[in-house]
Amino acid sequence: MTAGTDVAVITIGKVCDEMGLCGLSYHGAKIATNKLLMKEVYEKHQVRTAKYRKIAFDDPRMYEKIGELRLPLIFKAVDSSGSRGITRVDKEEGFAQAIALAKKYTRQDYFIVEEFVEGEEFGAQAFVYHGKVQFILPHGDYVFHGNTGVPIGHFVPYELEPEILADAKQQLEKAILAMGLDNCAINADFILKDGKTYVLEIGGRSGATCLAESVTIFYGFDYYEKILLAALGEENLSFDSNSCVPNASHLLMSDKDGVIRSITDHNEKNPNIYEILFDHKVGDEVQKFRIGPHRIGHVVTMGETLDEAVDLLHQAMEKIEICVE
Ligand SMILES: Nc1ncnc2c1ncn2[C@@H]1O[C@H](COP(=O)(O)OP(=O)(O)O)[C@@H](O)[C@H]1O
Ligand SMILES: [Mg+2]
Repeated sequence: MTAGTDVAVITIGKVCDEMGLCGLSYHGAKIATNKLLMKEVYEKHQVRTAKYRKIAFDDPRMYEKIGELRLPLIFKAVDSSGSRGITRVDKEEGFAQAIALAKKYTRQDYFIVEEFVEGEEFGAQAFVYHGKVQFILPHGDYVFHGNTGVPIGHFVPYELEPEILADAKQQLEKAILAMGLDNCAINADFILKDGKTYVLEIGGRSGATCLAESVTIFYGFDYYEKILLAALGEENLSFDSNSCVPNASHLLMSDKDGVIRSITDHNEKNPNIYEILFDHKVGDEVQKFRIGPHRIGHVVTMGETLDEAVDLLHQAMEKIEICVE
């Protein structure tokens, strides 16, 4: 099993197929780790998603094809993650640089360009087991705006009007079916525009940036344990829960390139501070935050209400001092 990264997903699919183990198929894994294959099956199954074009790096008609889409655009490496190789472009002058960045992060000889969907980014964690979606937990996203959006934190519950929620769930279920995903965790990225959910991408594993922790806190079961039990093919696996504990999380980030000189955590012990994690120690080199992998740690809090959890998140982050020089 894996969590929070696509790196092992292809291997898991192949091993599950070859050995008859419980987990996503090789077919599903290939689609879930390639943004072009994903877009193709979404289009075929009428999943709502941004209009796009596949473009070869050496295509002489490249600009003509891109011209069929409406600005602003997003240029994407198809087999990367953590917002690597992804650039929002507002004018044609930005195309060349965005293409170069996609090329840097891909192993393919093509990339995709998508129309930018202006709206509110959110997501969902879910699990599909024995052909049935077992739960869907929508979450709000905190987004950092660099070359493109980079999710840097999350919160649950994410309150949506009943019709909007029903539409989001329908899009997610259609996308899972379209991708042929089964017996795996689901990490969905959405954008909400005019009350309609657009599917950005869906991964066949749990989300990064504290999202598995978020599921664990909200439902009151150990989500990592459930993922492991599913990988073992547990017959009577249940995701039922009566619990719904609000929680929030945020990455710790550096605002400059440099070396960590000190890490001080002034927080007192508090049962509602679920986790404060530092990825690095004093003396380690870190980078100014631009993409997910530049994270230097995270904080996860919970509360009786979402407001309480979010207030505590901000307080806890203020009491952490990381000096980078
Ligand atoms: N079509 C789009 N419209 C608006 N924003 C987008 C679009 N596609 C991607 N983004 C932004 O770029 C981020 C990264 O894109 P995504 O396809 O999720 O790739 P990654 O695998 O790097 O997470 C998203 O979280 C979102 O902020
Ligand atoms: Mg994403």
